[in-house]
Amino acid sequence: MIYNKITPAIIEKLQQIVGDNYVKFDSESLAEYGHDETESLLFLPEVVVKPGTAEEISEILITANIELVPVTPRGAGTGLSGGALPVYGGIIISMERFNKILDIDERNLQASVEPGVVNEVFQNAVIELGLFYPPDPSSKGSCLLGGNVAENAGGAKCVKYGTTKDYILNLEVVLPTGEIIFTGANTLKNSTGYNLTQLMVGSEGTLGIVTKIIVKLLPYPKHNLLILVPFKSLDEACSAVSEVFRAGFIPSAMELMERDALEWVMRYVESSAVKLENDILAHLLIEIDGNDLVVLEKEIEAISALMGKFNISDILFAESAAQKEELWKLRRKINEAVKAMAISKEQDTVVPRAELPKLVRGVKQIGEAFNFKTVCYGHAGDGNLHIRIIKGNLTDEQWNGQFIKNAIAEIFILCRKLNGTISGEHGIGLIQQEYMGIVFSEKALHLQKGIKQLFDPKRILNPGKMFG
Ligand code: LAC
Ligand code: ZN
Repeated sequence: MIYNKITPAIIEKLQQIVGDNYVKFDSESLAEYGHDETESLLFLPEVVVKPGTAEEISEILITANIELVPVTPRGAGTGLSGGALPVYGGIIISMERFNKILDIDERNLQASVEPGVVNEVFQNAVIELGLFYPPDPSSKGSCLLGGNVAENAGGAKCVKYGTTKDYILNLEVVLPTGEIIFTGANTLKNSTGYNLTQLMVGSEGTLGIVTKIIVKLLPYPKHNLLILVPFKSLDEACSAVSEVFRAGFIPSAMELMERDALEWVMRYVESSAVKLENDILAHLLIEIDGNDLVVLEKEIEAISALMGKFNISDILFAESAAQKEELWKLRRKINEAVKAMAISKEQDTVVPRAELPKLVRGVKQIGEAFNFKTVCYGHAGDGNLHIRIIKGNLTDEQWNGQFIKNAIAEIFILCRKLNGTISGEHGIGLIQQEYMGIVFSEKALHLQKGIKQLFDPKRILNPGKMFG
């Protein structure tokens, strides 16, 4: 696509729409909005606009269609697939002023919230009322709900409670062509027409800009118990995952940390919370929750006994809220730690959970063949394994060229063979789009491109994402 450049006349128009204070084009602002948490990519926008209403966004998009300039919506910039990067320059629409929790409806266990609210701020607001919004990406302290919707974000609790998509009842969306619509109804059930709400969830800001989110809430479970199980083999840690479910338990979290992941993060945050014996190669962090502590205690005993079938060392039971928080902090900070300590690339693989051992074995073999090491961790209960490929001894040419792409393709082909796919929760964005052909047929891709064309005939909204 060839887009026009932002002119002084367009800047003036944007200032008329949102007010001078909310249009930024100084180099510092442009640099700040030119990156996210994906590797070290930088794409500078030409102007950053901070609208305050859906109507203002509508006017901006109508202007972008007339002027043929690209628009990239952005939340907090915590994404891991480059979804918020303005690859063709143009306008960044930052959603940071949409930061209000509009209504928490305790009668219906629903809430209406703006997309610029931080995930954890919202979680805490509903917890105060005894309610629960489960999707909890590791970046929950800074990521915005709108970004969570755009990427269909996940997190540790999804194994029992589902991902963002399972909590979105209805959305107010500004379409790329400027119309403002609601996608559905504020109901738990809805068999009325095509499901535009779910089409919008995970569409990575390519089909519209969400301006209001109606979510479903649950009662907050009163108790939780947390154990950390050290395994002497990574393979066995992976095999143990599906056994827990088969034995009749659904943990509220079941996370895998390969030895390096835990070792690196403990070094990074200077923690000694876990004693890492030399023969331990992986850990499972298992949480269960519910309202009856006696039942939970029996359940955690049964799960621990089940783990005893494997070659494990002493299980750590988190005794206090502080110890639980420390273990969770370690788990949540792995991505940041590995990223800070080594040049690396993240892959967000997902397979049916019982295939996890085959996935990990295959990934390690691919690493050997291509001469790189991987640090694996993630949401094992969901079969969702985050794989950080470490550059290590690879040359810059190998790291930046076809060599590493071939290796990543091998990993994704393995995912497909195991009936999995190439992203469980981070999205396709910019960096995974060239692998879409591995998991979709020509026809399935064609249908998706047709949807994009229908919503955004001039392709002004978040171009260069998902399908290029
Ligand atoms: C995590 C992020 C990287 O699970 O998805 O920590
Ligand atoms: Zn994750």
